[in-house]
Amino acid sequence: MSEPIVRVSCVRHVYADRTQVHLCGLDFVVTAGQRVVVLGPNGCGKTTLLYHILGLLEPSEGEVSVFGVNPARHFNRIRERVGVLLQNADEQIIAPTVWDDVSFSPRSYGYPESEVDRMVEAALECVGIAHLSHKVCHHLSGGEKRKVALAGALVLKPGLLVLDEPFEGLDPASRLDLMQLLNRLHETQGVTLVLATHDVNAVTAMADRVYVLLFGGEIVAQGPPAEIFRDPGLLRRSNIEPPVLAELFQRLEELGVSMGRPETIEDAARALTARLARPTAAAPSPAPATIAPSSPSVASSAPARGTTGDLFDPAPPAKP
Ligand SMILES: Nc1ncnc2c1ncn2[C@@H]1O[C@H](COP(=O)(O)OP(=O)(O)OP(=O)(O)O)[C@@H](O)[C@H]1O
Ligand SMILES: [Mg+2]
Repeated sequence: MSEPIVRVSCVRHVYADRTQVHLCGLDFVVTAGQRVVVLGPNGCGKTTLLYHILGLLEPSEGEVSVFGVNPARHFNRIRERVGVLLQNADEQIIAPTVWDDVSFSPRSYGYPESEVDRMVEAALECVGIAHLSHKVCHHLSGGEKRKVALAGALVLKPGLLVLDEPFEGLDPASRLDLMQLLNRLHETQGVTLVLATHDVNAVTAMADRVYVLLFGGEIVAQGPPAEIFRDPGLLRRSNIEPPVLAELFQRLEELGVSMGRPETIEDAARALTARLARPTAAAPSPAPATIAPSSPSVASSAPARGTTGDLFDPAPPAKP
């Protein structure tokens, strides 16, 4: 297994008003090329965790290492390798126009003007906002601002991208675009992704590994999404609504209809289609008994299948 590029070990953060976040329990570890999602209720410490990775906060206890350095002390050594999308895009948009803002980092690193132009064009293109390049940032919508902030995060082609609630406030098409963009960056450029989100329905398509935090910062679970979503009790304890598909197929399993745990709509559609196409056990004599709900023979012989009826016959899978 490759060396971790991020490790957060039992960090305690004490804010000025004495609020404590203790990111402890399990170590938070990210290896190169992973897509890691952090889940947890409001106020549990997701942003605090990301701020420690970004060196914006310094722990009062515990250790943080990013690309082998302590980011709170030496972030300047790694800052070109780390792109950031903060939860509140307004906090990171600093220049008056979109072009000025996205060009800020390459200009401050002293890239020649022609190269800066090329980098900014590529970043705007990548995020799909080339048409906004001359807009005043202050006039942009919330979703547009988030895309500008993302273009600024991508302009130096970082190896690690840290995103805090990247899907918040995006319409469904923009959300899907962003998911596809992040996955493309991961696939084609090997970008490592660390993102905090409440959007559990995005996790399966976005994560190789999920970390679950409880209120107070305790890191209580980590694993591949399928494993994490297999334990709805754990999710509920963390105030996380399980993804719709995970919940649906778990309920079906409880009703005796086991179709595995499809992780995508496509897989779920295939599982359901296969189940529906399967011939159900033929009743020996048809019509009269089945159309007479009060018939005692039907009541006593019909299997108890909750609300699933014959639609999801819990028979073993047919051989292909
Ligand atoms: N600057 C601050 N001063 C005092 N307390 C803070 C500060 N920033 C965060 N906190 C507190 O620290 C805890 C963790 O906050 P954090 O922003 O990390 O949570 P979060 O998991 O990102 O929440 P959300 O899902 O709402 O974004 C909360 O109790 C919050 O009130
Ligand atoms: Mg947050």
